[in-house]
Amino acid sequence: MEILKKYNTKLQEHLEKAVLQKEPHQLYDPIKYILSLGGKRIRPSLTLMVCDFFGSDFKKAMSAALAVELFHNFSLIHDDIMDNAPLRRGKKTVHEKWDVNTAILSGDAMLILAYQFFESYEPKMFQELAKLFSETALQVCEGQQHDMDFETRDDVTLVEYIKMIDHKTAVLLGAAMKMGAIVAEASESDKDKIYQFGRNLGIAFQLQDDYLDVFGNPETFGKQVGGDIISNKKTFLYLMAVGNGSSVQAEELEHLFSINPKDPTDKISTVKEIFLTSGAAKATRDEIEKYSKNAYSLLEAINISEEKKEMLRGFGNSLMQRNI
Ligand code: IPE
Ligand code: IPE
Ligand code: MG
Ligand code: MG
Ligand code: MG
Repeated sequence: MEILKKYNTKLQEHLEKAVLQKEPHQLYDPIKYILSLGGKRIRPSLTLMVCDFFGSDFKKAMSAALAVELFHNFSLIHDDIMDNAPLRRGKKTVHEKWDVNTAILSGDAMLILAYQFFESYEPKMFQELAKLFSETALQVCEGQQHDMDFETRDDVTLVEYIKMIDHKTAVLLGAAMKMGAIVAEASESDKDKIYQFGRNLGIAFQLQDDYLDVFGNPETFGKQVGGDIISNKKTFLYLMAVGNGSSVQAEELEHLFSINPKDPTDKISTVKEIFLTSGAAKATRDEIEKYSKNAYSLLEAINISEEKKEMLRGFGNSLMQRNI
Protein backbone atom coordinates (compact mmCIF):
# COMPACT_ATOMS: atom_id res chain seq x y z
CA MET A 1 0.00 0.00 0.00
CA GLU A 2 2.74 2.40 -1.02
CA ILE A 3 0.32 5.19 -1.86
CA LEU A 4 -1.13 5.23 1.66
CA LYS A 5 2.28 5.52 3.35
CA LYS A 6 2.30 9.29 3.69
CA TYR A 7 -1.05 9.22 5.51
CA ASN A 8 -0.23 6.12 7.48
CA THR A 9 2.87 7.70 9.02
CA LYS A 10 0.98 10.77 10.23
CA LEU A 11 -1.87 8.61 11.48
CA GLN A 12 0.51 6.44 13.48
CA GLU A 13 1.82 9.47 15.40
CA HIS A 14 -1.71 10.42 16.42
CA LEU A 15 -2.81 6.88 17.16
CA GLU A 16 0.00 6.47 19.67
CA LYS A 17 -1.36 9.43 21.63
CA ALA A 18 -5.02 8.63 21.01
CA VAL A 19 -5.63 6.37 23.98
CA LEU A 20 -4.03 7.50 27.18
CA GLN A 21 -3.06 4.90 29.72
CA LYS A 22 -5.55 5.15 32.52
CA GLU A 23 -6.90 3.00 35.30
CA PRO A 24 -8.09 0.28 35.32
CA HIS A 25 -5.26 -1.40 33.41
CA GLN A 26 -7.40 -4.42 32.66
CA LEU A 27 -9.64 -2.17 30.55
CA TYR A 28 -6.99 -0.11 28.76
CA ASP A 29 -4.16 -2.63 28.30
CA PRO A 30 -6.05 -4.69 25.69
CA ILE A 31 -6.87 -1.50 23.75
CA LYS A 32 -3.20 -0.51 23.74
CA TYR A 33 -2.32 -4.07 22.78
CA ILE A 34 -4.59 -4.42 19.76
CA LEU A 35 -3.57 -0.99 18.48
CA SER A 36 0.11 -1.78 18.96
CA LEU A 37 -0.19 -4.84 16.72
CA GLY A 38 -0.56 -2.52 13.76
CA GLY A 39 -2.51 -3.90 10.88
CA LYS A 40 -2.68 -2.28 7.48
CA ARG A 41 -4.53 0.86 8.65
CA ILE A 42 -6.30 0.95 5.31
CA ARG A 43 -9.54 2.60 6.41
CA PRO A 44 -8.16 5.64 8.28
CA SER A 45 -5.50 6.20 5.62
CA LEU A 46 -8.30 6.28 3.05
CA THR A 47 -10.16 8.90 5.10
CA LEU A 48 -7.06 11.09 5.06
CA MET A 49 -6.28 10.45 1.40
CA VAL A 50 -9.80 11.25 0.20
CA CYS A 51 -9.80 14.49 2.19
CA ASP A 52 -6.49 15.38 0.53
CA PHE A 53 -7.77 14.41 -2.94
CA PHE A 54 -10.78 16.69 -2.55
CA GLY A 55 -8.43 19.60 -1.93
CA SER A 56 -8.43 20.01 1.84
CA ASP A 57 -5.66 19.72 4.43
CA PHE A 58 -5.80 16.03 5.29
CA LYS A 59 -4.96 16.68 8.95
CA LYS A 60 -8.46 18.08 9.34
CA ALA A 61 -9.72 14.53 8.80
CA MET A 62 -7.43 13.07 11.49
CA SER A 63 -10.13 12.76 14.18
CA ALA A 64 -12.51 11.05 11.77
CA ALA A 65 -9.68 8.73 10.67
CA LEU A 66 -8.90 7.82 14.30
CA ALA A 67 -12.58 7.15 14.94
CA VAL A 68 -12.71 4.79 11.98
CA GLU A 69 -9.61 2.87 13.07
CA LEU A 70 -10.80 2.58 16.68
CA PHE A 71 -14.16 1.32 15.49
CA HIS A 72 -12.46 -1.20 13.19
CA ASN A 73 -10.28 -2.50 16.04
CA PHE A 74 -13.28 -2.73 18.35
CA SER A 75 -15.07 -4.79 15.70
CA LEU A 76 -12.04 -7.09 15.40
CA ILE A 77 -11.89 -7.76 19.16
CA HIS A 78 -15.56 -8.75 19.21
CA ASP A 79 -15.34 -10.57 15.86
CA ASP A 80 -12.52 -12.73 17.24
CA ILE A 81 -14.68 -13.77 20.17
CA MET A 82 -17.55 -14.60 17.82
CA ASP A 83 -15.28 -16.49 15.38
CA ASN A 84 -13.38 -18.21 18.17
CA ALA A 85 -10.16 -16.98 16.57
CA PRO A 86 -6.81 -17.62 18.27
CA LEU A 87 -4.64 -15.23 16.22
CA ARG A 88 -4.83 -11.63 15.08
CA ARG A 89 -2.02 -9.78 13.31
CA GLY A 90 0.30 -12.65 14.11
CA LYS A 91 -0.32 -12.44 17.87
CA LYS A 92 -2.83 -13.85 20.38
CA THR A 93 -6.34 -12.42 20.12
CA VAL A 94 -7.49 -10.27 23.05
CA HIS A 95 -9.90 -12.88 24.46
CA GLU A 96 -7.11 -15.50 24.34
CA LYS A 97 -4.46 -13.27 25.92
CA TRP A 98 -6.89 -12.03 28.61
CA ASP A 99 -10.40 -13.52 28.66
CA VAL A 100 -13.77 -13.07 26.98
CA ASN A 101 -15.19 -10.62 29.53
CA THR A 102 -12.14 -8.39 29.21
CA ALA A 103 -12.42 -8.49 25.41
CA ILE A 104 -16.10 -7.52 25.55
CA LEU A 105 -15.57 -4.52 27.81
CA SER A 106 -12.36 -3.25 26.18
CA GLY A 107 -14.16 -3.53 22.84
CA ASP A 108 -17.11 -1.53 24.20
CA ALA A 109 -14.76 1.16 25.49
CA MET A 110 -13.09 1.39 22.09
CA LEU A 111 -16.44 1.96 20.41
CA ILE A 112 -17.14 4.84 22.79
CA LEU A 113 -13.66 6.28 22.30
CA ALA A 114 -14.30 6.15 18.56
CA TYR A 115 -17.44 8.29 18.95
CA GLN A 116 -15.58 10.79 21.12
CA PHE A 117 -13.24 11.65 18.27
CA PHE A 118 -16.09 13.28 16.36
CA GLU A 119 -16.53 15.82 19.17
CA SER A 120 -13.74 17.94 17.71
CA TYR A 121 -15.86 18.88 14.67
CA GLU A 122 -18.24 21.84 14.45
CA PRO A 123 -21.95 20.96 14.97
CA LYS A 124 -22.95 20.68 11.30
CA MET A 125 -20.00 18.53 10.31
CA PHE A 126 -20.24 16.59 13.56
CA GLN A 127 -23.84 15.73 12.77
CA GLU A 128 -23.07 14.56 9.24
CA LEU A 129 -20.13 12.43 10.37
CA ALA A 130 -21.90 10.95 13.39
CA LYS A 131 -25.00 10.13 11.33
CA LEU A 132 -22.95 8.27 8.73
CA PHE A 133 -20.96 6.54 11.47
CA SER A 134 -24.04 5.34 13.35
CA GLU A 135 -25.74 4.04 10.21
CA THR A 136 -22.56 2.25 9.21
CA ALA A 137 -21.93 0.75 12.65
CA LEU A 138 -25.46 -0.64 12.77
CA GLN A 139 -25.05 -2.18 9.32
CA VAL A 140 -21.80 -3.80 10.49
CA CYS A 141 -23.74 -5.40 13.37
CA GLU A 142 -26.39 -6.62 10.92
CA GLY A 143 -23.71 -8.09 8.65
CA GLN A 144 -22.00 -9.76 11.60
CA GLN A 145 -25.29 -11.33 12.73
CA HIS A 146 -25.96 -12.68 9.22
CA ASP A 147 -22.40 -14.04 9.11
CA MET A 148 -23.07 -15.95 12.36
CA ASP A 149 -26.52 -17.14 11.22
CA PHE A 150 -25.00 -18.51 7.99
CA GLU A 151 -22.70 -20.85 9.97
CA THR A 152 -25.63 -23.10 10.79
CA ARG A 153 -27.76 -22.54 7.67
CA ASP A 154 -27.48 -24.77 4.61
CA ASP A 155 -29.54 -22.66 2.20
CA VAL A 156 -27.49 -19.45 1.98
CA THR A 157 -27.61 -17.85 -1.49
CA LEU A 158 -24.93 -15.86 -3.32
CA VAL A 159 -27.12 -12.75 -3.13
CA GLU A 160 -27.41 -13.13 0.65
CA TYR A 161 -23.67 -13.64 0.95
CA ILE A 162 -22.83 -10.48 -1.01
CA LYS A 163 -25.30 -8.51 1.09
CA MET A 164 -23.75 -9.91 4.26
CA ILE A 165 -20.19 -8.89 3.30
CA ASP A 166 -21.44 -5.54 2.04
CA HIS A 167 -22.72 -4.90 5.54
CA LYS A 168 -20.05 -6.44 7.72
CA THR A 169 -17.12 -4.99 5.74
CA ALA A 170 -17.80 -2.89 2.65
CA VAL A 171 -19.95 -0.12 4.17
CA LEU A 172 -17.10 0.78 6.56
CA LEU A 173 -14.64 1.20 3.69
CA GLY A 174 -17.22 3.33 1.89
CA ALA A 175 -17.91 5.38 5.02
CA ALA A 176 -14.17 5.82 5.75
CA MET A 177 -13.74 7.36 2.31
CA LYS A 178 -16.91 9.42 2.49
CA MET A 179 -15.81 10.91 5.81
CA GLY A 180 -12.72 12.29 4.07
CA ALA A 181 -15.02 13.86 1.47
CA ILE A 182 -17.33 15.27 4.18
CA VAL A 183 -14.43 16.95 5.97
CA ALA A 184 -13.18 18.34 2.65
CA GLU A 185 -16.71 19.67 2.00
CA ALA A 186 -16.94 17.92 -1.36
CA SER A 187 -20.20 18.08 -3.36
CA GLU A 188 -23.09 15.73 -2.49
CA SER A 189 -22.53 13.90 -5.76
CA ASP A 190 -18.80 13.39 -5.10
CA LYS A 191 -19.48 12.25 -1.53
CA ASP A 192 -21.95 9.71 -2.81
CA LYS A 193 -19.70 8.44 -5.59
CA ILE A 194 -16.63 8.03 -3.41
CA TYR A 195 -18.84 6.14 -0.95
CA GLN A 196 -20.00 3.75 -3.68
CA PHE A 197 -16.42 3.40 -4.90
CA GLY A 198 -15.31 2.38 -1.40
CA ARG A 199 -18.21 0.02 -1.00
CA ASN A 200 -17.45 -1.86 -4.21
CA LEU A 201 -13.78 -2.07 -3.30
CA GLY A 202 -14.89 -3.24 0.14
CA ILE A 203 -16.75 -6.19 -1.35
CA ALA A 204 -13.65 -7.10 -3.35
CA PHE A 205 -11.65 -6.68 -0.12
CA GLN A 206 -13.80 -9.14 1.85
CA LEU A 207 -13.79 -11.65 -1.02
CA GLN A 208 -9.99 -11.44 -0.94
CA ASP A 209 -10.06 -11.87 2.85
CA ASP A 210 -12.15 -15.03 2.45
CA TYR A 211 -9.77 -16.27 -0.25
CA LEU A 212 -6.72 -15.67 1.95
CA ASP A 213 -8.43 -17.39 4.89
CA VAL A 214 -8.16 -20.58 2.81
CA PHE A 215 -5.14 -20.02 0.57
CA GLY A 216 -3.03 -17.56 2.59
CA ASN A 217 0.45 -18.36 3.81
CA PRO A 218 0.27 -19.23 7.53
CA GLU A 219 3.74 -17.70 8.03
CA THR A 220 2.65 -14.24 6.93
CA PHE A 221 -1.17 -14.10 7.02
CA GLY A 222 -1.35 -13.26 10.73
CA LYS A 223 -4.63 -15.14 11.27
CA GLN A 224 -5.42 -18.82 11.57
CA VAL A 225 -5.51 -20.21 8.01
CA GLY A 226 -8.62 -22.37 7.57
CA GLY A 227 -10.52 -20.56 10.31
CA ASP A 228 -13.56 -19.99 8.07
CA ILE A 229 -13.64 -23.69 7.17
CA ILE A 230 -13.46 -24.68 10.84
CA SER A 231 -16.40 -22.34 11.61
CA ASN A 232 -18.47 -23.53 8.61
CA LYS A 233 -18.57 -20.04 7.10
CA LYS A 234 -20.67 -19.94 3.94
CA THR A 235 -18.26 -17.89 1.86
CA PHE A 236 -18.27 -17.22 -1.88
CA LEU A 237 -15.77 -20.07 -2.26
CA TYR A 238 -18.12 -22.48 -0.54
CA LEU A 239 -21.24 -21.33 -2.37
CA MET A 240 -19.53 -21.51 -5.78
CA ALA A 241 -18.08 -24.94 -5.04
CA VAL A 242 -21.49 -26.30 -3.98
CA GLY A 243 -23.19 -24.65 -6.95
CA ASN A 244 -20.67 -25.42 -9.67
CA GLY A 245 -18.81 -28.51 -8.44
CA SER A 246 -19.88 -32.09 -9.19
CA SER A 247 -22.75 -33.53 -7.17
CA VAL A 248 -20.26 -35.69 -5.26
CA GLN A 249 -18.22 -32.61 -4.35
CA ALA A 250 -21.34 -30.69 -3.36
CA GLU A 251 -22.54 -33.48 -1.09
CA GLU A 252 -19.15 -33.85 0.53
CA LEU A 253 -18.92 -30.11 1.18
CA GLU A 254 -22.43 -29.96 2.60
CA HIS A 255 -21.54 -32.78 4.94
CA LEU A 256 -18.19 -31.24 5.98
CA PHE A 257 -19.84 -27.88 6.64
CA SER A 258 -22.37 -29.46 8.98
CA ILE A 259 -19.81 -31.00 11.34
CA ASN A 260 -17.24 -29.69 13.82
CA PRO A 261 -14.47 -32.29 14.11
CA LYS A 262 -12.10 -32.01 17.06
CA ASP A 263 -9.10 -32.21 14.75
CA PRO A 264 -10.01 -30.20 11.62
CA THR A 265 -6.81 -30.98 9.63
CA ASP A 266 -8.44 -33.43 7.20
CA LYS A 267 -11.55 -31.31 6.80
CA ILE A 268 -9.45 -28.28 5.86
CA SER A 269 -7.32 -30.13 3.30
CA THR A 270 -10.34 -31.80 1.66
CA VAL A 271 -12.27 -28.53 1.44
CA LYS A 272 -9.24 -26.73 0.02
CA GLU A 273 -8.90 -29.37 -2.68
CA ILE A 274 -12.59 -29.10 -3.63
CA PHE A 275 -12.40 -25.30 -3.73
CA LEU A 276 -9.57 -25.65 -6.26
CA THR A 277 -10.85 -28.47 -8.45
CA SER A 278 -14.46 -27.24 -8.58
CA GLY A 279 -13.31 -23.93 -10.06
CA ALA A 280 -14.50 -21.99 -6.99
CA ALA A 281 -11.06 -20.51 -6.33
CA LYS A 282 -10.86 -19.18 -9.88
CA ALA A 283 -14.45 -17.89 -9.72
CA THR A 284 -13.54 -15.99 -6.55
CA ARG A 285 -10.55 -14.34 -8.25
CA ASP A 286 -12.90 -13.31 -11.09
CA GLU A 287 -15.47 -11.92 -8.67
CA ILE A 288 -12.79 -9.86 -6.91
CA GLU A 289 -11.84 -8.39 -10.27
CA LYS A 290 -15.49 -7.73 -11.12
CA TYR A 291 -16.10 -5.65 -7.98
CA SER A 292 -12.81 -3.80 -8.38
CA LYS A 293 -13.77 -2.90 -11.97
CA ASN A 294 -17.22 -1.78 -10.75
CA ALA A 295 -15.42 0.51 -8.33
CA TYR A 296 -13.16 1.93 -11.04
CA SER A 297 -16.12 2.73 -13.29
CA LEU A 298 -17.64 4.79 -10.45
CA LEU A 299 -14.50 6.91 -10.39
CA GLU A 300 -15.15 8.30 -13.86
CA ALA A 301 -17.68 10.92 -12.81
CA ILE A 302 -15.85 12.12 -9.68
CA ASN A 303 -14.39 15.63 -9.72
CA ILE A 304 -10.72 14.85 -9.11
CA SER A 305 -7.78 14.80 -11.50
CA GLU A 306 -7.03 11.84 -13.75
CA GLU A 307 -3.75 11.43 -11.86
CA LYS A 308 -5.62 10.95 -8.56
CA LYS A 309 -8.06 8.51 -10.16
CA GLU A 310 -5.07 6.52 -11.37
CA MET A 311 -3.74 6.45 -7.80
CA LEU A 312 -7.09 5.13 -6.55
CA ARG A 313 -7.07 2.42 -9.22
CA GLY A 314 -3.50 1.56 -8.24
CA PHE A 315 -4.64 1.26 -4.64
CA GLY A 316 -7.52 -1.03 -5.70
CA ASN A 317 -5.11 -3.23 -7.61
CA SER A 318 -2.80 -3.51 -4.61
CA LEU A 319 -5.76 -4.65 -2.50
CA MET A 320 -6.52 -7.41 -5.01
CA GLN A 321 -2.93 -8.62 -4.90
CA ARG A 322 -2.38 -8.40 -1.18
CA ASN A 323 -1.42 -11.47 0.79
CA ILE A 324 -2.07 -10.14 4.31
C1 IPE B 1 -9.86 -7.46 8.74
O1 IPE B 1 -9.57 -6.20 8.21
C2 IPE B 1 -11.35 -7.59 8.87
C3 IPE B 1 -12.04 -7.60 7.59
C4 IPE B 1 -13.01 -6.80 7.33
C5 IPE B 1 -11.69 -8.56 6.57
P1 IPE B 1 -8.11 -5.82 7.78
O2 IPE B 1 -7.56 -6.85 6.84
O3 IPE B 1 -8.09 -4.41 7.29
O4 IPE B 1 -7.31 -5.93 9.15
P2 IPE B 1 -6.03 -5.15 9.66
O5 IPE B 1 -6.53 -3.92 10.35
O6 IPE B 1 -5.13 -4.85 8.50
O7 IPE B 1 -5.39 -6.09 10.65
C1 IPE C 1 -14.86 -9.49 9.78
O1 IPE C 1 -14.96 -10.53 8.88
C2 IPE C 1 -15.72 -8.33 9.63
C3 IPE C 1 -15.69 -7.51 10.86
C4 IPE C 1 -14.73 -7.54 11.75
C5 IPE C 1 -16.77 -6.62 11.10
P1 IPE C 1 -13.98 -11.73 9.21
O2 IPE C 1 -14.39 -12.48 10.39
O3 IPE C 1 -13.74 -12.47 7.94
O4 IPE C 1 -12.62 -10.93 9.54
P2 IPE C 1 -11.27 -11.63 9.97
O5 IPE C 1 -10.91 -12.59 8.88
O6 IPE C 1 -11.50 -12.29 11.28
O7 IPE C 1 -10.27 -10.50 10.03
MG1 MG D 1 -13.15 -13.18 11.99
MG1 MG E 1 -16.18 -12.85 11.42
MG1 MG F 1 -11.90 -13.34 7.35
